[in-house]
Amino acid sequence: MVWFTIDRQSSVPLIHQIYIELSERILRGELKAGAAIPSSRQLAAELHVSRNVVLQAYDQLQAEGYIESQYGSGTFVSEGASFPESGERMVEPFIPEMEVLEMKQRSGDSSYISFRSGTPALDLFPRSKWARLAQRIILESPESAFGYGQPEGREELRKALTAYLLRSRGVRCHPSQLVITSGATQAISLIGRLLGGEGRTAILEDPITRDIQTIFASLGAQLHPIPVDEQGMLTQQLPSDYRPSFIYLTPSHQFPTGGTLPIQRRIQLIEYARTTGCYLVEDDYDSEFRYEGAPVSALQGLEPDKVIYIGTLSKILSPALRMGYIIFPHPLIEKGRRLKWFSDLHTPSLEQLTLAHFIEEGHLERHVLKMKRVYRKRRDMLIRLLKETFGEQVTIRGQGTGLHLIADFQGIQFTEELLAELDHEGVGLQAVEKHAMEKGKREGQVILGFGHLTELEMALGLRILKKVMLQYE
Ligand SMILES: Cc1ncc(COP(=O)(O)O)c(C=O)c1O
Repeated sequence: MVWFTIDRQSSVPLIHQIYIELSERILRGELKAGAAIPSSRQLAAELHVSRNVVLQAYDQLQAEGYIESQYGSGTFVSEGASFPESGERMVEPFIPEMEVLEMKQRSGDSSYISFRSGTPALDLFPRSKWARLAQRIILESPESAFGYGQPEGREELRKALTAYLLRSRGVRCHPSQLVITSGATQAISLIGRLLGGEGRTAILEDPITRDIQTIFASLGAQLHPIPVDEQGMLTQQLPSDYRPSFIYLTPSHQFPTGGTLPIQRRIQLIEYARTTGCYLVEDDYDSEFRYEGAPVSALQGLEPDKVIYIGTLSKILSPALRMGYIIFPHPLIEKGRRLKWFSDLHTPSLEQLTLAHFIEEGHLERHVLKMKRVYRKRRDMLIRLLKETFGEQVTIRGQGTGLHLIADFQGIQFTEELLAELDHEGVGLQAVEKHAMEKGKREGQVILGFGHLTELEMALGLRILKKVMLQYE
């Protein structure tokens, strides 16, 4: 006799509860093929439910092939409705390691101070301008904007971005080369699928965001690290004994160490790409915010045929928009579009249209200019506070661009244990080592994001950091 109870307080309907109980037992093989199922009358009496409820559950089980009734002799479990028993152990699914620092942040705990890199000032998102444009788009767009779109995204946005990127980053392309993506992260995945499958080699800067390493590795690519110095990738170490499929790099603002790749190394990379036939994947995630020296142009402008350019709106506007893009050299455009289609058809159209108008009306460039002033102040504040709190013990690196800098401490190792203690004390921090492929070279370095923090939060966070560090020195 099948025995189970049902929960009358549950929001799951009784019919569904009975269906789940029986189907799961059959699937697990606890009720074997040919075993008799109690009659609907019997089960209804046992569970104190109406017979009609049981009959409806049985109807569904029968319709899905779990049970069959034989006229006059009852209802039985069908053949083949359970998973075959196997002595072999199930292969563990591949679950990539994830960046968990921010997830650890206690939700709703506003006193937690996260120095997470790359979060912009969320309080300064241009809400009313965006809301006005979004409303206009929703009220005035043609009906077609509410249907399925093209994988490469809205032409209005691709045109607006093309003009913006030429003005601001020296990127040379035609709107037909763009594919709008869900942030740079999706762009990275698509490129990994396009160029980095089994048996392919990807050259990466070392260190580089661990999530990016994980994405490429999960797609089957062999990762080959090339170390960086304070200017970025050491291009003289590019290998001559094999041909990579692509080289992924952050030339305008190396993540996380902060270097800007000089022209000599850029030329070396382009020459290397030309002779080996590989592509250069340029991730230009936050270089609009450059505080020192002249603006640097994108690598793409030097050799558009060899560079796949990735951009994002996450740092200059908001990561919540999930808006990014890829600029493909001509031979890759069609495949790139197809991959985007397989992935999620296209990025939401109405948001794309809102962004297109936001750019065309000049709001984006004004916002970037305003934010650059805000971030410069916050960066200066953090540098001052670091010097006040740690004096000679700290060297500041990579502070010329972007939303984070590196604090390099003497006589300390940022171990998992130290970071866990810090987290316990209410401060979130990432060690540079976490993103390093070759470990052990940067144990005293941490990444400090400053874009989203007030002076008070920075001061308090650093005070707590100092207290915890004292326990580990
Ligand atoms: C180097 C780098 N590239 C890309 C991204 C991803 O940005 P998105 O929010 O556009 O997916 C990040 C995120 O911080 C990053 O650090």
